[in-house]
Amino acid sequence: MPKVFFTQPDGTVVAMDGRPGDSVMQTAVRNGVNGIVAQCGGVLSCATCHVLLAEDESDRYPPVSDAEDEMLDCTATDREPTSRLSCQLVLAEGADVHVTVPPEQL
Ligand code: FES
Repeated sequence: MPKVFFTQPDGTVVAMDGRPGDSVMQTAVRNGVNGIVAQCGGVLSCATCHVLLAEDESDRYPPVSDAEDEMLDCTATDREPTSRLSCQLVLAEGADVHVTVPPEQL
């Protein structure tokens, strides 16, 4: 079972068990992780699931799609090179994920 490590803006790290096939966003919402709002439920229309993905893990996921790219321009905290929408990061068996939650989502 993959683990998802969420680093909060204050440096606190929380680790949650993820289910393969679920997204990082679904894992956060199911476990009540602070800072992942996910207003749209994962249909790429809110950008409130913004995270910074660990740089060395980015090649595990498909590149940012045009739709995700457009929404990443609408994040409350400025977009960074490692920014992703966590609803687009799908967990795989045995692959832990490390993300940082930005200071603002709304
Ligand atoms: Fe809305 Fe990810 S949950 S874009």
